Amino acid sequence: MKIGIYGSGAVGFAVGKGFSKQGHNVLFFDIDENKVKGLVSQGFDATSDSGKAVVDSDVIFVCVPTPTVRRKIDLSYIRAAGREIGRRLKSRKGYSLIVVKSTVIPGTCQGKVIPLIEKFSGKKAGVDFGLCSNPEFLRENQAFEDFINPDRIVIGELDARSGDLLETLYKGFSCPVIRTDLKTSELAKYANNAFYATKISFFNELHLICRKLGANSETARKIVQLDRFYPTHPWSHGKSFGGRCLPKDLDALIHFAASNKLCKPALLRAVRKVNEEIASFEPSAAELPASAVRKSEQHMAGGENLRFHSRNSLRARAPMRHEVANASESGAQETES
Ligand SMILES: NC(=O)c1ccc[n+]([C@@H]2O[C@H](COP(=O)([O-])OP(=O)(O)OC[C@H]3O[C@@H](n4cnc5c(N)ncnc54)[C@H](O)[C@@H]3O)[C@@H](O)[C@H]2O)c1
Repeated sequence: MKIGIYGSGAVGFAVGKGFSKQGHNVLFFDIDENKVKGLVSQGFDATSDSGKAVVDSDVIFVCVPTPTVRRKIDLSYIRAAGREIGRRLKSRKGYSLIVVKSTVIPGTCQGKVIPLIEKFSGKKAGVDFGLCSNPEFLRENQAFEDFINPDRIVIGELDARSGDLLETLYKGFSCPVIRTDLKTSELAKYANNAFYATKISFFNELHLICRKLGANSETARKIVQLDRFYPTHPWSHGKSFGGRCLPKDLDALIHFAASNKLCKPALLRAVRKVNEEIASFEPSAAELPASAVRKSEQHMAGGENLRFHSRNSLRARAPMRHEVANASESGAQETES
């Protein structure tokens, strides 16, 4: 199949490389000319011509940034991509599938991406083009390996035709595939990262209690994690979470939930507060066991997504070899500019 990668950064590159290894015809697109040159010099097909990327592709993966600005998601890159894909889609003959890989707040695909593409292409979603939300759970420091070896694939679909086509692309992957609606898929990514942030914060607070008490936090953590229902976790030595996605996605979810009056996200706010406070207690490298220093550095460098094994969870649910977690952001009050 002909695949276009719209935004060829950490995620776009891993996705494109992964599908090209599976025998698909992949064309990378980016507005950054240097990135395009770099990809070409590595032997990949890449272009800075959005028209070529959109018109020549059966499936287009949107992997543009969704940063947090003032603790709220900035959807300007997504909107720009929606407009440009719409303009270019006008001259494509035949059906295309647009797949949103970027982490976006619930409602973005239905409320922003589809209307923009329809407006600028003059085409109709569900007829001339399909759309899926397909969040990515990879870790940035081993993006390609995580992309080709996922724990699960989430397909949020506008309609069955869109979902069927995307599922075909993933037929070489052996993990569970969960098909759902667009909104649930968009939310699942935030849920995953928020849960991850919560676990880190819980173990960090436990670590502080143990430190004052003279108890061994590592042993206490292991005891909790040996619970049959709890996946193991290499953190817990009082290091705040960071990286490019966890803080931004936690803030986005908090803002999304509060601004839409979905709930008062007291627990998630507390998780953020714990993480901010933990920084003032952060132990020096000398206070940490060597293994924890190595793991912390590795995970801080990689950003957010952490994969961990659980012998107990392996037994409990055989198909899931690992459990992953990571993060991203929200902002329901965005308006199209
Ligand atoms: N980095 C991670 O580990 C990770 C993991 C899972 C999900 N995500 C999500 O995936 C998305 C992309 O993240 P990333 O880390 O790959 O970002 P990135 O900054 O590494 O790459 C984004 C790329 O998009 C390009 N771009 C920006 N605007 C563009 C436009 N209008 N048209 C074409 N290209 C454009 C940039 O030049 C850049 O190369 C974000 O929503 C992020 O939250 C990231």
